[in-house]
Amino acid sequence: MFKYFFKKDFKRFFTEENSSNKCIRLSLSENLWGPSSKALYAIYKELKHVNLYPENSYQKLKDLIATKYNLSADQIFLGNGSAELIMLSALALFKTESVGITSTNTFVGFKFSIANIRGLCFEIPMSNNFTIDTKMLILEAKKLIERNFYISAIYVCNPNNPTGTVISENSIKTLIDFGKKHNIYLIFDEAYMEYASRDRTTTAIKFINYYNKILILRTFSKFYGLAGLRCGYLLSNKEVIQQLKRFQQNVVFNVNRFAYVAAFNSLLDRRYAIRTYNKNLKMKKILMCGLKKLSIEYVNSETNFILIKIGKNYLDLYEFLTEHKVHVMPCDKFGLKEYIRVSVGRKQDIKHFLSLLKQYKQKMGNI
Ligand SMILES: Cc1ncc(COP(=O)(O)O)c(C=O)c1O
Repeated sequence: MFKYFFKKDFKRFFTEENSSNKCIRLSLSENLWGPSSKALYAIYKELKHVNLYPENSYQKLKDLIATKYNLSADQIFLGNGSAELIMLSALALFKTESVGITSTNTFVGFKFSIANIRGLCFEIPMSNNFTIDTKMLILEAKKLIERNFYISAIYVCNPNNPTGTVISENSIKTLIDFGKKHNIYLIFDEAYMEYASRDRTTTAIKFINYYNKILILRTFSKFYGLAGLRCGYLLSNKEVIQQLKRFQQNVVFNVNRFAYVAAFNSLLDRRYAIRTYNKNLKMKKILMCGLKKLSIEYVNSETNFILIKIGKNYLDLYEFLTEHKVHVMPCDKFGLKEYIRVSVGRKQDIKHFLSLLKQYKQKMGNI
């Protein structure tokens, strides 16, 4: 009965549940279509084991990820969301009072982790087209080295949150060569990589066996729609993984049973991946088209969110949208005043968001 319910009525189940919330949450770049029905069914089957700890080697999932990227299972480390892995890598890899370098207008988790371990964080301005300026990152790193700072790690979010932009393969390679020359860890956060188009984007995974201090972070929270379960993974070489493990001895079982089986079954569900990719692309086009019609500037995005320029009224618009139960992310905390970040939602979410934007424009004369 349950099986039938999940397989047949999954779509209706999800739409009804979400619409009964009344709020439209476009603020946290979640997958608003929900997870794979195979993942949901696996969670249901797992319920009867909830009294037991999970199998702590998480071997099946590691093997599956390893096969997917042509790596070995000992190059994979699972976390309670990739946020845990960002914190853990700072704990494990940073030397006291050493430096982490990142870009401005990027995911704030990097600088918070560096601050937590009392490291120094340097933020390098982004280039004018909202992409991470890897040349400037290298230039600044060289200056810091000349001033005898010890650089532990350079962080790159690719595709970048909140701009949705990507860096070229050439930039990735140059950065890696620089890191290799100066013995610096390179941490690539690829939380949104599954949404990016293959021909315009390169994953740093292809360089993992070229330099032994590359770390790549991925998550099941975004593309796979499992944000509420908390599961992410880190790819690196096995020595780095061993170092991370030493800092995690007292937190065994950091991935719960449901997250584990849901992640495993999501990865196996090829049809879900194709559908999610295509739906996101289609809805993103509708959103961009609507913004164009309203003459509102936005940044082209390789992800499931769009950075939109609102201007000085951005907080007023944010409040207006919130009053109408549409939540978006004001980007001042990313250092981008005048911008909001909006998730690519379902068709009805986008239509509602665009109609509110139009109303607001009419009310204000313009924005
Ligand atoms: C770039 C980036 N990295 C990491 C995370 C953390 O994701 P999670 O801990 O859900 O895997 C987020 C969440 O928004 C993100 O945008």
